[in-house]
Amino acid sequence: MPGYIIVGMQWGDEGKGKTVDFLTKKADVVARYQGGNNAGHTVVVNDQETVLHLIPCGILHPDAQCIIGNGTVIDPAVLIQELDDLAKADCEVKGRLHISEAAHIIMPYHKALDGAQEEARGENKIGTTNRGIGPCYADKADRFGIRFGDMIEPETFKQKVKEVLDFKNTILTKAFGKEALDYDAIIEDYSRYADRLREYAADTTLMLHKAQQADQNIVYEGAQGAMLDIDHGTFPYVTSSTTMSGGVFSGAGIAPNSIDGVIGIMKAYCTRVGEGPFVTELHCETGEALRAAGHEFGATTGRPRRCGWLDMVQIRRAVNICGITSFVLTKGDVLGIFDTIKICTAYEINGEVTDEFPTRLAHIESAKPIYDEFPGWESDISDCSSWEELPENAQKYIETIERLSGVPVSIVSVGPGREQTIARNNPFGN
Ligand code: GDP
Ligand code: IMO
Ligand code: MG
Repeated sequence: MPGYIIVGMQWGDEGKGKTVDFLTKKADVVARYQGGNNAGHTVVVNDQETVLHLIPCGILHPDAQCIIGNGTVIDPAVLIQELDDLAKADCEVKGRLHISEAAHIIMPYHKALDGAQEEARGENKIGTTNRGIGPCYADKADRFGIRFGDMIEPETFKQKVKEVLDFKNTILTKAFGKEALDYDAIIEDYSRYADRLREYAADTTLMLHKAQQADQNIVYEGAQGAMLDIDHGTFPYVTSSTTMSGGVFSGAGIAPNSIDGVIGIMKAYCTRVGEGPFVTELHCETGEALRAAGHEFGATTGRPRRCGWLDMVQIRRAVNICGITSFVLTKGDVLGIFDTIKICTAYEINGEVTDEFPTRLAHIESAKPIYDEFPGWESDISDCSSWEELPENAQKYIETIERLSGVPVSIVSVGPGREQTIARNNPFGN
């Protein structure tokens, strides 16, 4: 029952979408297990770019079954837009997309509260995607949440909204001075969404168990990155779900012994969107050069991504919490513009040198990066199709990452396109 977890090694946008699409060539099932439409996963096939926020990136392979698991949070309007966009691109989804009845639904008050809370935080804002993710997960933990299975049952849905809306409106109007939301309008919109999405409802956990029993290849598509994990990330500058690999067990309902490996997707440098500490961030021309060469603008919000060098202190922490068995290294091609490339190997915190990632926010915020320097390859590697074709300095850069992490780089991505991928060792077979 081969099952591989795809997990971002940094603060998201590492190239998970591209990797999932690449692996799906040999996979039967692809499942999202956490996050919502805060994610933006880009796939490029024949120069055609598709950005998916909720539907797994396996959908572009006509034979793959795709699951939106119980641990995700779903904005039904966004999902319907995504279905419409796929239909326009002649991608047939019916019979292949399955939505967990236990996944929680993002409601209008979640989005309103996300915005209002950020406004109230002022300078201390988190820089969320403003999609209602945090308030939706909070309601799940608070047991106020409304699940997909509730939304598609008209009477249950009306009852649930009735129970919760007054309470939410009180918070919106009294605590934040915002407008109250209208019950009838919500029921009307969500009844339409329910009619459109009802046919996709499934017990996705059971489906995954059956796929495992049938020995099918399963890819679990993580969203965000390990450093945005609600427990292990740079709290409070994190998202509201378990983004590290362990999130798959609760978020999909599968067992640890059904996993064969955990694939860490790592950008050859580092980016972050939103607020929060970023030890290797470059506030100079080099950072701007990375942003320009790497087209580092958010796939969901369009915000410019903050850019910096690869941070192996942070990566080793991500490796250890996620149990990474191999890496996919993406965007090494972007580094072709530099004559010298840096990797952070340790931090200096309050005059002391450490190679361990701190948990305390103040320590992360005050950490100064200590770098090793490497000669660049100063060439375009985006047409390389084998390890041997990569310039020697690029090979050395990759081998350094392997040495510093103890994890093999099994796939090297040299461009956004599906074919721009060097598989040294595809987990599903080369
Ligand atoms: P995700 O959220 O992890 O799926 O990543 P995003 O899609 O948000 O951002 C990654 C961006 O880099 C997308 O625009 C991809 O098309 C692009 N990309 C992925 N891999 C590579 C690569 O190896 N080289 C280059 N130049 N771009 C890449
Ligand atoms: P993918 O899957 C990058 C960031 C936001 C913000 C913080 C909290 O494409 O890698 P939220 O809306 O989740 O409450 O925002 O998390 N964030 C992401 N950054 N890529 C993502 O997803 C992200 N999803 C959330 O920018 O800093
Ligand atoms: Mg993204």
